Amino acid sequence: MRAHSLTIDRRRLFRGAAVLTLAGLLAFAVGAQSAQGQATAPAKPFSAQVEKRAAEMRKKMTLEEKVGQLVQFPNGGTRGPDGKGIDQNELLARGGVGSLMSPSDASAVNAFQKQAVEKSRMKIPVIVGTDVIHGFRTIFPVPLGLSASWNPDLVEKTSRVAAVEATSEGIRWTFSPMVDIARDARWGRIMEGAGEDPYLGAQFAAAAVRGYQGKDLSDPTSMIACAKHFVGYGGAESGRDYNLVDMSERTLRDVYLPPFQAAADAGAGSFMSAFSSLQGVPASANHHTLTDILRGEWGFRGFVVSDWDSVNELINHGVALDGETAARKAVTAGVDMDMGSGRYGENLVKLVRSGKVPERVVDEAVERILRVKIAMGLFEHPYTDETRRQTVLFAPEHVALARRAAVESFVLLKNDPIAGGAPALPIAEGKTVALIGPLADNAGEMLGVWECRGRDSDVITLRQSLADRLKDKLIYAKGTEIETDSEAGFSGALEAANRADVVVMALGETRRMTGEAASRTKLVLPGNQLKLLQAVAATGKPVVLVLFSGRPLALPWEAAHIPSILEAWYPGDQAGPALASTLFGETNPAGKLTVSFPRAVGQEPLYYSIMNTGRPVNPGNPYVTRYIDELTTAQFPFGWGLSYTKFDYSATKITTTAARAKDLNTTGAITIEATITNSGARPGEEIAQLYIRERGTSVVRPVRELKGYQKILLKVGESRLVKFTLTKKELSFWNIDSKQTVEPCELTVWVAPHSDGGQPAQITIAP
Ligand code: NOJ
Repeated sequence: MRAHSLTIDRRRLFRGAAVLTLAGLLAFAVGAQSAQGQATAPAKPFSAQVEKRAAEMRKKMTLEEKVGQLVQFPNGGTRGPDGKGIDQNELLARGGVGSLMSPSDASAVNAFQKQAVEKSRMKIPVIVGTDVIHGFRTIFPVPLGLSASWNPDLVEKTSRVAAVEATSEGIRWTFSPMVDIARDARWGRIMEGAGEDPYLGAQFAAAAVRGYQGKDLSDPTSMIACAKHFVGYGGAESGRDYNLVDMSERTLRDVYLPPFQAAADAGAGSFMSAFSSLQGVPASANHHTLTDILRGEWGFRGFVVSDWDSVNELINHGVALDGETAARKAVTAGVDMDMGSGRYGENLVKLVRSGKVPERVVDEAVERILRVKIAMGLFEHPYTDETRRQTVLFAPEHVALARRAAVESFVLLKNDPIAGGAPALPIAEGKTVALIGPLADNAGEMLGVWECRGRDSDVITLRQSLADRLKDKLIYAKGTEIETDSEAGFSGALEAANRADVVVMALGETRRMTGEAASRTKLVLPGNQLKLLQAVAATGKPVVLVLFSGRPLALPWEAAHIPSILEAWYPGDQAGPALASTLFGETNPAGKLTVSFPRAVGQEPLYYSIMNTGRPVNPGNPYVTRYIDELTTAQFPFGWGLSYTKFDYSATKITTTAARAKDLNTTGAITIEATITNSGARPGEEIAQLYIRERGTSVVRPVRELKGYQKILLKVGESRLVKFTLTKKELSFWNIDSKQTVEPCELTVWVAPHSDGGQPAQITIAP
């Protein structure tokens, strides 16, 4: 597993684990508002019995035991702040820990659990969590790739499989899904989410929660989800990880919050507070987001864990001068559990005893954690069945799903005819293929980062799959490494290309170039891969570029000169079989981009749903919003993706005759339809997208916003009428009076194959 932010000094962990009992000196008013604002009806409340049991249990706990529940300890952490050893078992036995992270296996988890439930006074089990991001042992495509399927049901299934596997090793809590909206390809963590769009992001957020948590939290295969990183983290300035985030309340409400709200509504048991600051307030000390919005407005009843060490990092942010203040600010803002910083264990007892933190703040946090533990059935069944892992890990049906998921994630960016004839893809049978590139046969890279318990030895590479299929009609040459200046392999690559009918180039980023702490200022192919590609293209052979990346890349030369480009992301265990079946046309690519691919890094952040300006692009007028050296549009826009067949769209038709904001703010709806026809020569799936634009509103609205989509399978020649409905949910926005409302406006809609296509239709929304 990838090391998470382990740069902190482990000796600081559990500073003050030996609880201080200084008498209260000051009754300092900390402004610790209760966690409840005006709660709307919670979407998925815990049962009254769960609530009652948690409250009763909390009443029986000592202050030290309560604080213990708010502490998450990294498995294997052995040292306290004074450099002295800490005995994890002793800590568990005295109820000093509520959660453990990153254990090795089921028997280790059972051993910890035994300490907690048999030795501690309150017998409260620990909740064991880790980062299960895109599979546990069976590894699926990275989340950005999965989102390109535009198939939340698929993500529900992959998340379910991940839960079935992870829980067999005792892990009942995952720090996933990451539902941060990401609009800057420089940010390495763009790979961990579902892309740039809040509507689509919300669908994937809810699907992942459903998959992880299953139908019943108390099922031993259910794993608590954690919507992260609350909130705004994806808006890191300059695309630099951990950087500050500053955005208007309107952008927060309209763009960054919806996927989190969808996760809460789907019943996510936990949220994680982000590293970053938002509007000048660190996310891990942000009462407005953690309490007013999450608990007050949304009625969330689960618990919030901090990101790793982010309670302590309040000192670096400069809003606390010491650990005590950091702990006070975080807990009173609404962070219930401290991941790894040790500041809660060190300070909370003394903060309560001194009156600096009202005890009810700790009580609320404890109850939130207990509610989840109770609902999970941990008290009744604290132990993991150690035999189950033998049958579930890497089970054949999981591997089959990994293959299907990889196929659905691929996006055909380009597939031009070669010299007026057929395109290079799909590759015709009988051809000799040269497979070239550093990612053609690298198992580890196919897993992406956050590979959890994935194994290189489980992976089938593209080279292996093509060798099985083509036997001696496959010529392989590595050509180069991803990061090197050496051209030693170029001659072998050119020789292979010259002997082949078609060349497949497997190029891209290393997986470690995306994920946490992996921001880039360049979005080109690293090393000398472009040079190799140019040399191979100069042979005149048809070239197919298979791109492996965890982010959009800016590839102007490639887009102009390479006839066929397939974005493969990091496809997971079944990379080879999924790619081979796609390259040879047994499966027809249907993925579409959930992030805009730029022409140049200088366009970032780049996203389709921009606000109009007073000076929109207007060829011929230089005094408009534009660059003097590059277009403003994407190289490949959001929603883009080709197929081996062809789809035609009819005009968009609004079937509602009259619309009024008054009705739409209650139960009214606008209906839209269009006919899509498969006019090509193969069956295929198309993702038809519904976009809207509202004009004449109290605030500026985006030039387009996705508000619906349908993935449909069409036979050759088949036509299908697709219908969409717009209600308050889709049409409302955070207006000038800070209200989520539908306003009278001029509404334009498009049913389109991507964010830059389709034919518009209009309707007036009267007051
Ligand atoms: C830091 C990352 O930001 C977060 O996503 C992850 O869950 C934690 N580390 C734990 O590994």
